[in-house]
Amino acid sequence: MTARHGTYLDHGATSFPKAPGVADTVGRFLNEEAGNPGRGGHRLTVAASRAIELARQRVASLLGADPERTLLGPGATFWINSVLQGWLGPGDRVVLSALEHNAVMRPLRRLERGLGLELVVAEGAPSTGVPSVAEVALLVAAAPTRLVVLCHASNVSGAVLPVAEIAAAVAPVPVLVDGAQTAGNLPIDFSRLGAAAFACSGHKGLLGPPGVGALLLADRVELEPLVCGGTGSRSESEEMPEWLPDRLEAGTPNGPGIAGLGAACAWLADRTVEAVRDREERLTRRAAEGLAGIPGVRLHGRDEAAAHVGILSFTVGGVDSGELAAWLDREHGIMLRAGLHCAPAAHRRLGTFPDGTVRAGFGPFSTEEDVDRLVEAVRHAASSGVR
Ligand SMILES: Cc1ncc(COP(=O)(O)O)c(C=O)c1O
Repeated sequence: MTARHGTYLDHGATSFPKAPGVADTVGRFLNEEAGNPGRGGHRLTVAASRAIELARQRVASLLGADPERTLLGPGATFWINSVLQGWLGPGDRVVLSALEHNAVMRPLRRLERGLGLELVVAEGAPSTGVPSVAEVALLVAAAPTRLVVLCHASNVSGAVLPVAEIAAAVAPVPVLVDGAQTAGNLPIDFSRLGAAAFACSGHKGLLGPPGVGALLLADRVELEPLVCGGTGSRSESEEMPEWLPDRLEAGTPNGPGIAGLGAACAWLADRTVEAVRDREERLTRRAAEGLAGIPGVRLHGRDEAAAHVGILSFTVGGVDSGELAAWLDREHGIMLRAGLHCAPAAHRRLGTFPDGTVRAGFGPFSTEEDVDRLVEAVRHAASSGVR
């Protein structure tokens, strides 16, 4: 997308622009519906509750989930923490991929110290770190395992992991899928994924505002709440309600953000995630081909025969990635992110730690001209440097 803002290619971090209708819906909530949902019965409370329940329906419908088991909160990080801390106990064994984001690694490391978890990493294929179904199944079969944690797609390389096939192979061991990079970018039917839980951001591929995300829970999966507090329901009790969504949604929710996320999901449902996916795949392939053809440029963690979301990581020989990203912004108006992308484990696995990479991410409003502008700028950097 090229506008007065420049060329935005940082969709792995967050989407920009948001879906049409999101800003208006956020504004309408604040101007006309901003009661406290579920608290009391006056008209603004009812309006807020309606807006949030409509958003819940839309998120659930887009992702193939049961609305009652679609929890809305601050983001993927919060919901991943909720599952890990609500599920794991002393000495539990957890199998995970080598490509996990710090939203997974940091809570797991803390629980490893506090609870003595055993963390077992599936190293994956040599060049991509993507684990095969057989590798994860073997690790799970080796000892009693409490949980498998997998990103659905790497936020560094864009590689898609075979989470449905792994979930089927390791059943009944539950699988937590970190869908931060796939919700809105890949067609997802949670009812058929076989995962126990799917956590995602609302502000990336779902095209909603920052500060919202969702957790989808399979039938019969129960979690201890990470946060306890008021829900507007069962106020006579000092215990959290037993039912969802109230049990896991304490405190006043981010009504404007959630309403905006609902509008974004309605737009995506209309546009179709399949169409978004086709576009992002086409643009990413064009970028990969263009960049790979430049002497000195290396793509990282990509297997052209495998599936990817609209993200790719590259480096330019002899050019510091941070300086390259700053130069692309300054000289060409191209915005993307260099460094470790909050995923040191993935960079270690791909051999790009500690220097990191430059990451380009494409969204539903990215164009072929955006891709070509990036490729030409990188060609210039590779031949002439960035000073
Ligand atoms: C793979 C992955 N997991 C989790 C997160 C955390 O998402 P959020 O910052 O929306 O909580 C991100 C965000 O970059 C991510 O890429």
